[in-house]
Amino acid sequence: MARLLFLGDVMGRPGRRALKAHLPEILAEFSPDLVVANVENAAGGAGISARPLNELKGFAIDVFTSGNHIWDNREAYSLLETEPYLLRPTNYPPGVPGRGVVVHATAGGVKIGVINLQGRVFMREIDCPFRAADRKIETLKDSGVSAILVDFHAEATSEKEALGRYLDGRVTAVIGTHTHVQTADGRVLPGGTAYLSDAGMCGPTGGVIGVKTESVVGRFLNALPFRAEPAEGPVALRGCVVDFDEKTGRSLSIETVDRGDADG
Ligand SMILES: [Fe+2]
Repeated sequence: MARLLFLGDVMGRPGRRALKAHLPEILAEFSPDLVVANVENAAGGAGISARPLNELKGFAIDVFTSGNHIWDNREAYSLLETEPYLLRPTNYPPGVPGRGVVVHATAGGVKIGVINLQGRVFMREIDCPFRAADRKIETLKDSGVSAILVDFHAEATSEKEALGRYLDGRVTAVIGTHTHVQTADGRVLPGGTAYLSDAGMCGPTGGVIGVKTESVVGRFLNALPFRAEPAEGPVALRGCVVDFDEKTGRSLSIETVDRGDADG
């Protein structure tokens, strides 16, 4: 059996604070073979840059995934070229910087492929995530991976669940990100793929999906643009743990993780 830990969207400095406070105890408790975190909002709540990425590298995270906000900080363009374990969604058009797939070998020698995809419902229309997954799974199987994890960064639960069903039996796990709200639908699908619509957020529990309340409420009241500044106050770490058979790549269980403080 092998185990992976997935950490939901890390939101700015409060997100990094949540990891610092809770990740050590989670690593000690679960001893995962692979740790993956979505870091598209890890720099000040929008994008990723060198300094927060370096800080996150110190937390024993093996692979960093992202999504639509990866482009918000210009430093990401060069980081995507120089950091092999920093991914952007693979279904962007050809010629876009970086890559959306990587293979990580665990300390025990298990090769695990990670695919980062982005949805198209209520989001910018990019290439088809379903067909992109088909192509990348074939390539990964040729490179001899034992398991494949998909981070599906998408808004609509319908699109996420459809991809989970579509890939059931072909990948080890489909974990959703982007909404910042952890869902209660984690289960292993009939073909052996662990599925969770959204892992939730590592970040502030106050605010609106991690952003200062007054900014977001103001946006709904007056429709003006706003800065997505992380909320202050208590923080929590959210994600999930997946156990799988490294010989078959089939999942055995999925469990959500939620550690930290509510906003009261
Ligand atoms: Fe996102």
